[in-house]
Amino acid sequence: MLGDEFALLVASVADYAIFMLDPAGIVVTWNEGAERIKGYRSDEIIGRHFSIFYPTDDARNRKPDWELEVAKREGRYEEEGWRIRKDGTRFWANVIITALRDDKGHLRGFGKVTRDLTERHRAEERRNAERDAEATRLRQHADRMVELERTKTEFLNLASHELRSPLTVLRGYNSMLEDGSIPAEQIPAVARILETKLAQMDLLIEQMLETARLEHDSFDLVRDSFELGDVAQEQLDVFRALARDHRFVMGPDAGPLVVEGDRARIATILANFMDNAVKYSPRGGEVTVTTGRQGDDAFVSVRDQGMGIVPEHLPLLFTRFGRLPTEENVTIPGTGLGLFLCRELAIRHGGNIEVRSKPGVGTQFTLTLPLKNR
Ligand SMILES: Nc1ncnc2c1ncn2[C@@H]1O[C@H](COP(=O)(O)OP(=O)(O)OP(=O)(O)O)[C@@H](O)[C@H]1O
Ligand SMILES: [Mg+2]
Repeated sequence: MLGDEFALLVASVADYAIFMLDPAGIVVTWNEGAERIKGYRSDEIIGRHFSIFYPTDDARNRKPDWELEVAKREGRYEEEGWRIRKDGTRFWANVIITALRDDKGHLRGFGKVTRDLTERHRAEERRNAERDAEATRLRQHADRMVELERTKTEFLNLASHELRSPLTVLRGYNSMLEDGSIPAEQIPAVARILETKLAQMDLLIEQMLETARLEHDSFDLVRDSFELGDVAQEQLDVFRALARDHRFVMGPDAGPLVVEGDRARIATILANFMDNAVKYSPRGGEVTVTTGRQGDDAFVSVRDQGMGIVPEHLPLLFTRFGRLPTEENVTIPGTGLGLFLCRELAIRHGGNIEVRSKPGVGTQFTLTLPLKNR
């Protein structure tokens, strides 16, 4: 008989829970799929109200009854939502409830077909999470581009301003040289001034390039072994020749201080220290360079007798474009890139920079780097 075969078919479907409820919601049939998906054997579940399949909150809010009501009125109710297995675990179900009526239209009960879509639901959630992560990545990228754009503008403004002032000096001397208004015996002195201005421009260009490299993470450090004391001495010699109003003093010999890294960039750090020591002690004085070891580190300190830094300004020192809002800085040139780059370079060498300062007394910057042979 077709009816029996059909009943057999339904009973043995394993991928769908197919069962019937009476008009009050009591389970009256059960198939293999229902047992597989929900975990109840038919003798355990037949005769129970179907609200047992719902999470406690749904059951308490009479959601199951409401669904039957909708099915009764509309003929059909469908949804996706969490259901509970016999062992208490949740699964994501697609549920269709159909009202079953006889020829006269009397309600005989409900047919219920449930599919376990937990895997699909999980995959969807994973896809959503991936989409969210991708959106976040894109947003961060966009933010970074905006930040880079801003930096670029800052760069251009500063660069044009800071390059123009030494250029003005160069142009002035050049026209004086042209019309012969500089006496021959003063030419060496003028050449020295021009040299200083050129060095300033060189330094600024180098700083801008370094900052750009940092921004783009295209920063390659050379790894050589070298004597830190030699680098300190070289830079001191350069500045001694340039800054005639300051007395450069080298501290006592500290013995070998071999470190590993990018010699030229370590030299840049010390040059920045000395440049600052000179710039920010406009009344001259001593600039003392001390080398030594401190535990497993080598260090170089540069101490000046200049204007000093008030404690509130210390946090600004190492920020990009971090010029201090002081009266003196209105006339002292600078971009505020120097110490920012110094610290970035020091950190990339496994070292650091410390500062001690007393307003009106002086400032000391110290670079520490790991010793090669600890
Ligand atoms: N030795 C120092 N004494 C007093 N103030 C200092 C000293 N060194 C730095 N500063 C302050 O810290 C700020 C940041 O120094 P940094 O070297 O980063 O920039 P800058 O000297 O202004 O410009 P740049 O070095 O790029 O030409 C300076 O503007 C200055 O106000
Ligand atoms: Mg500086």
